[in-house]
Amino acid sequence: MTTISERTSPAERFQAIIDADEKVEPSDWMPEGYRKTLIRQIAQHAHSEVIGMQPEGNWITRAPTLERKAILIAKVQDEAGHGLYLYSAAETLGVTRDELVELLHTGRQKYSSIFNYPTLTWADIGAIGWLVDGAAITNQVMLTRTSYGPYARAMVRICKEESFHQRQGYEIMLRLCNGTPEQKAMAQDAVNRWWWPALMMFGPHDSESTHTSQSMEWKIKRISNDDLRQHFVDMTVPQAEYLGLTLPDPELRWNPERGHYDFGEIDWDEFWRVVNGHGPMNRDRLEHKIRAWEDGEWVRDAAAAYAEKQQARRAASRTGG
Ligand SMILES: [Fe+2]
Ligand SMILES: [Fe+2]
Repeated sequence: MTTISERTSPAERFQAIIDADEKVEPSDWMPEGYRKTLIRQIAQHAHSEVIGMQPEGNWITRAPTLERKAILIAKVQDEAGHGLYLYSAAETLGVTRDELVELLHTGRQKYSSIFNYPTLTWADIGAIGWLVDGAAITNQVMLTRTSYGPYARAMVRICKEESFHQRQGYEIMLRLCNGTPEQKAMAQDAVNRWWWPALMMFGPHDSESTHTSQSMEWKIKRISNDDLRQHFVDMTVPQAEYLGLTLPDPELRWNPERGHYDFGEIDWDEFWRVVNGHGPMNRDRLEHKIRAWEDGEWVRDAAAAYAEKQQARRAASRTGG
C-alpha cells in the first residue's frame, strides 16, 4: 500500500498541511518565500520584545513604590524572555541569533515603531501596559494559531504573560484615575499620547499592506490588520469609559448598524515617518541596544568558555581520564 505522502511532491505535502490546519515543523519542506517571510516576521517580533525593554526600563529606578518596582522589573524581564523564545523559534528556520542581531544593529531589520515614542511620566507605564501590551495581545492571540509550529508554541506562552502585563497596566491607570486630579490628568495625558501609536501597531490598511494576502494564504497571519485594529478599538473603548478617560478621537462613536465603533483616520504621514527611522526615539533606541550588546561581550565570552570547559570535563569523565 502506498501512502499519500509517498506519491505527492514536497510542495503538495506542504499545501496539505496548510489546508488541514496542521503545523509546519522545521524538518518539513517549505517554500523559500514561506521561510523568508517567517524569518523576517519572527526576527522583527523578537527585536521588538528586546527593544521594548527600554522605554519601560527607563522607569524602574523611578517607580513610585517598592511593589511597583518589583512588578516592573518582572515585566521588563518577561520581555527579554519573549525575545529569547522568538530568537529560538527563528533559529529553527536556519538563521543564527547573531545574524539576526547584526541585521537589527545595521538597520536592515526593523522592530515595532511603538518603541520609538518616549515614556515621559509614570502614567506612561500604565498606558503602555494597557494599550501597547493590549494591542500586542490582540495581534498575538491570532499568532498562537499560526501555521509554523515553533512560532505558534512560543506565542502560547508569550500570550499568557502579555495578559498579565495588560492587567498590570490597566491597574496602574485605575489607581491614577481614582487618585488626585493631578494623577487623573497625568493618566489622561498619557492616553492622549499613546492612543494613536497603539492603533498604528496593527500596521497599514489591508489595501496597502504588501505582505498580508500571501501571509493569509500561508496561514501565518489569520486576521487582517484592519480587522484586528477594529477588534482592539471595540475592546478598549469600554475600558476607557470605566476609567473615566477620553480617547483622543472626535470621530470615535458606536455604530449600531455595524455593531462596531467607528473611529478616525490614523496620521499615516507620522506612521511612515516613524517606520522609516524618524520617530522621536529611533536613534536613541538603536544606539542604546548596540552599546548594551558591546558591553555584554565579556559575559557572552565567559559563558561560552564556561560551557566549553564543562563539556571537556564531561568528555574526560566519560573516557575515565
Ligand atoms: Fe512581550
Ligand atoms: Fe508585554
